[in-house]
Amino acid sequence: MISSSDALVVAASGGIGTAMVRTMLNDTSLERIFAVSSVPEAPQEFNNNSKLTWMHCDYSAMDIARTVNRLLSLECNLVMGAICNGILHDDAVKPEKRMDDITEESLNRVFTANAVVPILWIKELKQVFSKRDICKIAILSARVGSISDNRLGGWYSYRASKAALNMLLKTSAIELNRKCKNVKLISFHPGTTDTKLSRPFQSSVSRDKLFPANFVATKLMDLMRKTDVDGELSFLDWSGVPIEW
Ligand SMILES: NC(=O)c1ccc[n+]([C@@H]2O[C@H](COP(=O)([O-])OP(=O)(O)OC[C@H]3O[C@@H](n4cnc5c(N)ncnc54)[C@H](OP(=O)(O)O)[C@@H]3O)[C@@H](O)[C@H]2O)c1
Repeated sequence: MISSSDALVVAASGGIGTAMVRTMLNDTSLERIFAVSSVPEAPQEFNNNSKLTWMHCDYSAMDIARTVNRLLSLECNLVMGAICNGILHDDAVKPEKRMDDITEESLNRVFTANAVVPILWIKELKQVFSKRDICKIAILSARVGSISDNRLGGWYSYRASKAALNMLLKTSAIELNRKCKNVKLISFHPGTTDTKLSRPFQSSVSRDKLFPANFVATKLMDLMRKTDVDGELSFLDWSGVPIEW
């Protein structure tokens, strides 16, 4: 039996997540797209697309495990995936300008969304990583998670959560290189992208540096296709250039 080539998008209702689903649906080499979201229904534009399976998940550890079990039961043959969870701000959290703005709540909320949830996905997805086919997984990180690149300060919880994400992924890549040699992890910086996340901060960004989500999704698909499976975690920007840790 020839197995299918399937792809996964987590946080599929977000700006970049939706663009990834759209781009993957248009990729004829991919047969099934599994999209996971805290939003129960797929956006209308994807209605009646037989390639798409929309899966609801509340991102608790238990629900992530349940969703991965469903992927296993559907015999998902994962060849690529994008984990797009993240917050910079929400109703209760704003990026900190100074140390005095740090609260226990903001640290906990941002770390959970940006570091804890993505690593729980990698932990559970280990069972789905195909033994035969190469599988490339991009996890949405951010350049501001680079410790050596931190010249401006501020954004304590966002920066630290992305640095923590990178370390969790680096450690996972070492373990996967022993157990699942066909898997490649990419910690991906999309550049400033026109989504809900960046909206309050776009006024200081020139138009040519603010990317449409569809552009970023196309770049990430190209990058996943081109990047070799080398047992390492790569920290890459949207143009494929490595970022210093
Ligand atoms: N936009 C940028 O300029 C930019 C720059 C650098 C890095 N990034 C990174 O790119 C990723 C995607 O961001 P985006 O721009 O697409 O933002 P977005 O439109 O706000 O989407 C983020 C998605 O993350 C999920 N999410 C929200 N709160 C969460 C929580 N508490 N726990 C777990 N998941 C949660 C939601 O997915 P569902 O609604 O589907 O559940 C949400 O739609 C993030 O990791 C972000 O840090 C973005």
